[in-house]
Amino acid sequence: MKNEKLKGIILAGGKATRLYPATLETCKQLLPVHDKPMVYYPLSTLMLAGIRDILIISTQKDIERFENLFEDGSQLGLNFSYQTQEKPRGLADAFRVGRNFIGDDRVCLVLGDNIIYGERLEYMLKKAARKRNGGTIFGYKVSNPTAYGVMEFDQSNRVLSVKEKPKKPKSEYAVIGLYFFDNDVVEIAKGVRPSKRKELEITSVINKYIKRGNLESILIGRGFAWLDTGTFKSLADASEYIRVLEERQNCKIGCVEEIAFELGYINERQLRKLAEPLKKSGYGEHLLRLLK
Ligand code: TTP
Repeated sequence: MKNEKLKGIILAGGKATRLYPATLETCKQLLPVHDKPMVYYPLSTLMLAGIRDILIISTQKDIERFENLFEDGSQLGLNFSYQTQEKPRGLADAFRVGRNFIGDDRVCLVLGDNIIYGERLEYMLKKAARKRNGGTIFGYKVSNPTAYGVMEFDQSNRVLSVKEKPKKPKSEYAVIGLYFFDNDVVEIAKGVRPSKRKELEITSVINKYIKRGNLESILIGRGFAWLDTGTFKSLADASEYIRVLEERQNCKIGCVEEIAFELGYINERQLRKLAEPLKKSGYGEHLLRLLK
């Protein structure tokens, strides 16, 4: 049946030119953010939304690295697929590349370099995940909206449109790199034409849902972190943010093995097997502590 299941896509390709030369030979989404690969954070976001079927899209050069890291995902109680995007054609291309994976289902797209963290995150994700029709996007107040897709509101605070990297932003609310859509997204993405900067823009998809009156926009308040890691400064900021919180609260953020264990996807024996090879790091120690 159409729209029954919710699947997830992690878009982890691109060129990462703003991180050159660090990413000339390495893949951005596998760089460490504090103590774990960047991609663990968007993966944990999908897991907290209750998603178990996950497609990773990356470049021809890098896809193998992700396959080596996650294999078929069964060690985490997940089901991974992999596909390549030959060229960074834009975010909306994820729904074209991933159309067979999506099939008749709904899909949540998360960008491989986006970190989302906050107290009611799981509640918020589950709410979006339950919605059978239309789409859901999230707005976050930022100091530099011109760098993002920006929301425009009407007088009753409904989103009128979203504009990509506007010179004169109509609000301070950027659309974060996490999008939930029903199955119509496959058809909508097929019809998207390249923008002036020659990309298949996610904003074109979003605006189509707005026109249909079928988009929910959730504004995320203070006390929530949305960090992207595309520049040296934002990468260093994200690492520091995660380190401070983890040390202060003696917890781990984006710890996919812990989430799998908490959700009952893996048992104690399976967790121990994942933890043992990591035990010389604080990360592995943390996993072993969960078993005590
Ligand atoms: P960007 O940060 O916009 O692009 P980039 O990672 O290539 O970086 P730079 O601007 O420094 O060259 O991309 C956001 C995320 O989406 C990132 O995880 C890469 C991914 N992406 C793709 O996988 N394919 C694409 O076609 C695009 C545009 C981005």
